[in-house]
Amino acid sequence: MFNPGKFVNEKIPEIRQQIKGKAIIATSGGVDSTVAAVITTKAVRENLVSVFVDTGYMRKNEPENTKKMLKKLGLNLEFVDARKEFYSALKGVTDPEKKRKIIGENFIRVFEGIAKQEKAEYLVQGTIAPDWIESGGALRDTIKSHHNVGGLPKDMKLKLVEPLRDLYKDEVRKLARYLKIPVAEKQPYPGPGLAIRIIGEASPESTDIIREACAIVEGEIEKAVENKKMEKPWQYFAVLLPVKSVGVHGDVRVYSNTIAVRAVSSVDGMSAAYSKIPDDVLERISIRITNTLKDKVNRVVYDVTNKPPGTVEWE
Ligand code: XMP
Repeated sequence: MFNPGKFVNEKIPEIRQQIKGKAIIATSGGVDSTVAAVITTKAVRENLVSVFVDTGYMRKNEPENTKKMLKKLGLNLEFVDARKEFYSALKGVTDPEKKRKIIGENFIRVFEGIAKQEKAEYLVQGTIAPDWIESGGALRDTIKSHHNVGGLPKDMKLKLVEPLRDLYKDEVRKLARYLKIPVAEKQPYPGPGLAIRIIGEASPESTDIIREACAIVEGEIEKAVENKKMEKPWQYFAVLLPVKSVGVHGDVRVYSNTIAVRAVSSVDGMSAAYSKIPDDVLERISIRITNTLKDKVNRVVYDVTNKPPGTVEWE
């Protein structure tokens, strides 16, 4: 049986042995990177700089909320607003793999800049056991090149420290609960963020649309779960499609965009079944999206594809 208290007590002196200078970690507020940052901070205090990069593809209120949470946890936080860089790097790019690659490369560039500025010698990562076990098979990578804020290149000449390397996800969640980190029940969120939930160019304008639509889907589904109308899906979000259709608002013709709602149940993301959302919840989502995004979205559809053949994300 995994004992989080014992794990932390044993890890702290081990990390102190490993880290003899300045260390740096990229943290997105996700479970793994946050747990790794908190445990390492307990060991080396302000010698660990935790870097949060706002790529511009964060969910509604996410940068502010994550910043608050990470500060409350006592991290030595460096907050980087890199929205302009990311938006300009993705200008005119529509190919999903190119988008993923550019986001990954930009992230590394920004992070490397901070590492240099901080004169860091150690790189802390929230790698967990499935990350390195799966990377041997590389099947996922032939489908989509996954980007994790943890997935930084080893040629950064920094010494790697991976305090969670031998743990599985449920153990990391137990650690999060033990350390009072309010991330343990979060739904998974892809590294490239909202950019891969916009089919086509991830412009600032499209990002504003998808950010709002995702917030509505999350809000309505969480309310329905709380009211015991449905099981909590593994993931639930919106996708902005490059499809325009004719509609009507009042008695005025509108010609605007389509939002797809995606919700799936899954154990590990490798396979998934689309969630059976009650009709009235879907209807509320549709009404709220088309009312809130009046001139921008006039049609909402629901994705009823399992994985396989559909992946969870559309890009
Ligand atoms: P797919 O879309 O491949 O997604 O069926 C499976 C799970 O992985 C998440 N996902 C990512 N997670 N970096 C991540 O950390 C990524 O680049 C990435 N792409 C997809 C997806 O949200 C789902 O949970």
